[in-house]
Amino acid sequence: MDYLEIEGGHKLQGRVNISGAKNSALPVIAASILSDKPFKITNLPNVVDIRTLLKLVDMLGGKVEHDNTTAIIDNSSMNSTKAVYEIVSQMRASILVLGPLLTRFKHCEVSLPGGCAIGQRPIDMHLKALEAMGAKIEIKGGYVQAEAPKGLQGTKIVFDKITVGGTENVIMAASMAKGVTTITNAAKEPEIVQLCELIQSAGVEITGVGTSELSITGTNGKPLAFQECKIIPDRIEAGTYLCAAAIANSEITLENVESNHIKAILDKLESMGCTIKIEENAIAIKGPKKLKPINITTSEYPGFPTDMQAQFMAIAAIAQGESIIEERLFENRFMHVSELNRLGADIWLKGSLAAVRGVKELNGADVMATDLRASSALVLGALVANGITNVRRIYHLDRGYDNLEGKLAKLGARIKRKKE
Ligand code: EPZ
Repeated sequence: MDYLEIEGGHKLQGRVNISGAKNSALPVIAASILSDKPFKITNLPNVVDIRTLLKLVDMLGGKVEHDNTTAIIDNSSMNSTKAVYEIVSQMRASILVLGPLLTRFKHCEVSLPGGCAIGQRPIDMHLKALEAMGAKIEIKGGYVQAEAPKGLQGTKIVFDKITVGGTENVIMAASMAKGVTTITNAAKEPEIVQLCELIQSAGVEITGVGTSELSITGTNGKPLAFQECKIIPDRIEAGTYLCAAAIANSEITLENVESNHIKAILDKLESMGCTIKIEENAIAIKGPKKLKPINITTSEYPGFPTDMQAQFMAIAAIAQGESIIEERLFENRFMHVSELNRLGADIWLKGSLAAVRGVKELNGADVMATDLRASSALVLGALVANGITNVRRIYHLDRGYDNLEGKLAKLGARIKRKKE
């Protein structure tokens, strides 16, 4: 198994290119199922989750040509509607094929994704919405078995709580349904906007894009023909490199980044004492000598993203004073706390609150990655910890960070991938 060996205490400098957003690329790939024409996607991040979903499309009978950042997907001869456990269990986002398979083929079987390290992560809202659109759904043998022999019917969907994946599944299902589907309390993340724009590129009418009220007029069973799609920059990868500069008291520039997507992150970094300069498609950041403490509550976009909570906890660990971080989206997204404490952080947990008392220094140790963003928080801590930190179980990192060690090494970090 691979691990990262990081020698702390080296400043970063230079420019880093931000890859395409994993969480935008995944629904875009799932949406390819709605099309019976070849469809080109560019600016894909070179990460395991993308390869996993492309493998699922291939197993469903799609033809996939993929190099590191580009895929051409031809689902004209897709001949299976079963998303098997072996793939879905590797990656929860595979549930995104449910809406497209059902609306295009009128039946499908998708393995239940189950829980994961950050929480239970049920899919009840996805299922309830598809049932409201006329699907008959049963859970049998660990699979969601769904059918809608006459096709899905547009209707009014009101989500009890904001769900990114649920909104994406319904948008895709609605795009080929009969009539109009409205979604109230829709998620409005930039990744949702990209999905809507992709579907609009096939001539489907969607109103309210970027708001919490969406209205989608379906094609009544006619498959879609998309224009080429360039994946938006990964706002969480960008946030992670900004945190790297902040924690390492360094000056770096991010390229190919969309500053409008990360306003909440930039605001918190400025409050902590970072100097930020926004340029065209680029952001320059200078970390302060001493970071100020911060209070953070995670929330849906445009609020502070849960996917940046762990990284900010790492930088708060060496701030001057006490920070309070509240996790409101996932019930178990604090697995990095005990590992950061192994590096010498002083973090206390009570329910969904973490109190982070800033310490003067961190010290290298063996630590274990527990989920994708927790892994990057450990790497951030390691950048400034005295001596060597070994970050183990980095298969979590490989799921969502494109060449993290290569990009950090180019910025001057001492980081090496090694084998156990
Ligand atoms: C997406 O997950 C992201 N994944 C996550 O990023 C991100 O943390 C999350 O949104 C929140 O921003 C992808 O985009 C592939 P949700 P998703 O449905 O869609 C509850 C990362 O690190 N819920 O918005 O699964 C759920 O348990 C990942 O890149 C239900 O109760 O998240 C959670 O508490 C991790 N029932 C809340 O809603 C449902 O049917 C928000 O989840 C669906 C969700």
